[in-house]
Amino acid sequence: MNRRNLLKYSGLFGIGFVSSPEIIWSNAINKSINRKNEFILKNNIMAEYGPPKMPKLSSLKARLHWNENPYGPNPNAIKKFNYYSSKGNFYSWDILKDFVKKIALKEGVRPENIMTGPGSSDLLEKVALVVFQNGGNVIAADPCYMSLINVVNSIGGSWKSVKLTKEYEHDLDKMESEIDSKTKLIYITNPNNPTATITHSKKLYDFCDSVSKRVPVFIDEAYLEISKGGLKNSMVGLVSKGRDVIITRTFSKIHGMAGLRLGYMVATEERLKKINKITRGGMGIAGPTIHAAIESLNDNYFLESSKEKLISNREFTVQELKSRNFNPMPSNTNFLIFELPKKTNPNLFLGKMYDERVSVKAMNFWNKKWCRVSIGTRENMERFISAFDKSMT
Ligand SMILES: Cc1ncc(COP(=O)(O)O)c(C=O)c1O
Repeated sequence: MNRRNLLKYSGLFGIGFVSSPEIIWSNAINKSINRKNEFILKNNIMAEYGPPKMPKLSSLKARLHWNENPYGPNPNAIKKFNYYSSKGNFYSWDILKDFVKKIALKEGVRPENIMTGPGSSDLLEKVALVVFQNGGNVIAADPCYMSLINVVNSIGGSWKSVKLTKEYEHDLDKMESEIDSKTKLIYITNPNNPTATITHSKKLYDFCDSVSKRVPVFIDEAYLEISKGGLKNSMVGLVSKGRDVIITRTFSKIHGMAGLRLGYMVATEERLKKINKITRGGMGIAGPTIHAAIESLNDNYFLESSKEKLISNREFTVQELKSRNFNPMPSNTNFLIFELPKKTNPNLFLGKMYDERVSVKAMNFWNKKWCRVSIGTRENMERFISAFDKSMT
C-alpha cells in the first residue's frame, strides 16, 4: 500500500481512524497507532473495519464474526466439563498426559512430538516468541491469519508477504523464492483465513518436504477438519519423517469449543524442546476442558454431523449470495468471504447489520472491500441474508 492509498483509507475510515477505538487493524497489532501505520505501510496489510458502536454480543441474533461453531460443544463434553469443574482444586497434569498420549496415537507420532496450549493462538504466539527473539522475517500469505505475525512484528521481526495466487492458493514458488538469510519461518494457514480457500495438498506436501530442510515451515490447520478431504490432507506425516514442520490444530472450530480453549501443536522433539525451554506448554489449560475434549474426540458421529450441517448451511448461503450477484471465494471452512460493492461504506454497512442484530466482519485487502461471514445455523444464515439485503439498500 502506498502513501496515497493509506491516506485514501484513512479518509475512508473517516473519523474512526482518528478517534474510534473500534477500528481494528488486523487484530491488535500494536498499541501505538504510529507503529501500526508504519507496519501497514511496510506490509500492505489487511485492515478490518469497525463502526463506532458495536452492540453487546449477548444482544446478537446471529453472531457471525469470529468463525465460531453453533453446533458445539458436544453435550457429553459439556457433562464431563461440568462434572470435572468440581475437581477444580487439583492441577490437571495427569489427564493432560492421557490426552497427549491419545493425540499422539491419533496423529501417528510420539507424545514427545505434541505440545498443548489454551487454544492454538497461544501456540502460534509461543512459536513466534521463541523463533523471533533475535529478529528475522516470517514469510506468509497476503492476506492471512495475523496472530503469529502480530507477535513477530511486536518483538522486532518482520513479515514478507506473498500474495495468494489467482486461484486463492498459497503461491508456494514465490514463497520459496523469498527465503533469505534472515528468514526464520514460513507460516501457511491451510485452509486460509480470511479467504477460506485451500492450497493443493500434494503441492503443499512436496513444498514442506523440501523447504523445511532450509527453513521451518508452520502449517496452521485450524479449519482442516471442515475442508473437503479433511484430515487426510494434513501435513502431520512429515513430522515423523523428521522434517522441521510445525502443525497446529484447535478445538475451537469443528469441536465447537472456542470458549473452553484448547489446541495442540505437532513438531519434532528438537523443535518442541526449544520452545519448552522458554515458554511451557500445557500449564494454561483447564482440567475440565481436557476431559471435555476427550469426550468430543471420541464422538466422531457428532463431529461428522456438525460438519454436514455447516456445509449445508454454507451452500445455502452461497446460493443466496450468488442469486444476488455476489461471488464468495470457494470455501473449505465454516466461513465465507465475498467482495462488497465498491461504493459500500464498510462502517455504515456494519452499522446496518448490527441494527439487525447480525455481526460479520468487514475487511480491506488487495484494495478491495470484503465481507467475511461465519457459518451459523440455518436460521442464523437466513437472518444474515435478510439483514444483508436491508444493508445493501
Ligand atoms: C487460522 C486460524 N488459526 C488459529 C486460530 C486461533 O484459534 P484458537 O486460538 O481459538 O485455537 C484461528 C481463529 O479464528 C484461525 O482462524
